[in-house]
Amino acid sequence: MATKAKTVWYCTSCGNESPKWMGRCPACGEWNTMVEEPKPARSAAGGSASTPSRNRAFLAVEEARPRPLHEIDFSDESRLTLGNGELDRILGGGLVEGSMVLIGGEPGIGKSTLSLQIPLHCQGLKTLYVSGEESAKQIKLRAQRLGGDDSACLVLSETLLENILDRAREVQPQLLIVDSIQTIFSEAVESAAGSVSQVRECAASLLRYAKESGTPVLLIGHITKDGTIAGPKVLEHIVDVVLQFEGDTKGAYRILRSIKNRFGSTDELAVFEMTGTGLREVSNPSEILIPMHQDNLSGVAVSAMMDGTRPFLIEIQALVSTAAYGTPQRSATGYDGRRLNMLLAVLEKRAGFKLAAKDVFLNIAGGLRVADPACDLAIVASVLSSNFDLFISPKVCFAGEVGLSGEIRPVPQVERRIAEAAKLGFEAIYVSSFSRAEALKPRSGNIRIIPIPDIPALCRSLFQ
Ligand code: TYD
Ligand code: MG
Repeated sequence: MATKAKTVWYCTSCGNESPKWMGRCPACGEWNTMVEEPKPARSAAGGSASTPSRNRAFLAVEEARPRPLHEIDFSDESRLTLGNGELDRILGGGLVEGSMVLIGGEPGIGKSTLSLQIPLHCQGLKTLYVSGEESAKQIKLRAQRLGGDDSACLVLSETLLENILDRAREVQPQLLIVDSIQTIFSEAVESAAGSVSQVRECAASLLRYAKESGTPVLLIGHITKDGTIAGPKVLEHIVDVVLQFEGDTKGAYRILRSIKNRFGSTDELAVFEMTGTGLREVSNPSEILIPMHQDNLSGVAVSAMMDGTRPFLIEIQALVSTAAYGTPQRSATGYDGRRLNMLLAVLEKRAGFKLAAKDVFLNIAGGLRVADPACDLAIVASVLSSNFDLFISPKVCFAGEVGLSGEIRPVPQVERRIAEAAKLGFEAIYVSSFSRAEALKPRSGNIRIIPIPDIPALCRSLFQ
């Protein structure tokens, strides 16, 4: 009697497994993401990544004996520097031996370019670059465009996982790059390449290879909005580091963000510029994000914000105009629209500005998304500036959070923000007068620190 083929349902967003179809994934809450796949044979190559037997296989690589921490020699956790200052920095100082890093991003953002630039810019680093998307000739073409032809970089165009691992064991590279995890497949799993069980199985086998051989593995993963292929979220718990490539594929600037890092801090961010010859590191992002013009324009204010541990100066633009229809429009690009509404309500209630009959448009320069509450003060200043049509000096910046009663609240790491503003030649910075006394002390550099308690005080200081 023919038995029915066993299948399971996976969520393409988070990889959650379910015996039946569900409209909404109970694990991540996404709608319409469950896909049916053949049930992976548990015996094949150790089963799925989340089974205990698989986890034991990872650990068996190391000596499986409880040891006191002080006996463990940590000097062997050497880091491989990649010759790319920004990438090394967000990894926490280079790649850790035997670690697995995932770079995720939308198609066309520059993942392949970034990963191919690593061996090309790091002379003598023996790298095996496996591509399941491009032929060796296409990779060569790209390498030529990127201005490098490093003989230490070996290129392999292959999609079968078992072959990739065989070649890697043969070649013994110092770094293995797999572009992309969704295009490779294992014979041990029945479903198609890019399905949840394939992606998991391939990543787990590559992780085992990384741990056994001590070779760092760099995986590239696509993110698609429609969820037709399994996204990097499925892999997040398997890999050691997750870097996310963001930005507008039509714009020049790309942001690489660390969202998980077992060997360094998260919330780190690096900015790259896509040029005709590949990605260029932008080691001082403030330079591109603050105004280049010297004219006195209204509606522009500079915020001293932080992203992770790094201070940033960024231009904020607001346009306030009379509403053409009954309900005024509010539009925020790169900023939370609800928070903008809150700030406008505070301005209306606490400072007496009649904004209810005005359209307000807000834009963050450079296509960046900001979430630091310290931007509040600059947003309020730019809205007021546009509303009165009075300019703010381009040599002035802001760092403060606005509370519901119109008070200016202190922000963390205000000293670092002030130092960055001083370094970039700003002449004055507005901060909360409730900041710690040491932060408000005058410091070397020509920056004047202006403490203000609330919005009316800001108005008086800026526009009177
Ligand atoms: P790519 O690395 O192929 O993206 P991904 O692997 O994330 O899909 O980069 C794609 C874009 O980058 C492509 O639209 C062209 C652009 N690009 C440049 O502008 N300059 C270059 O030197 C290279 C190699 C690519
Ligand atoms: Mg690519």
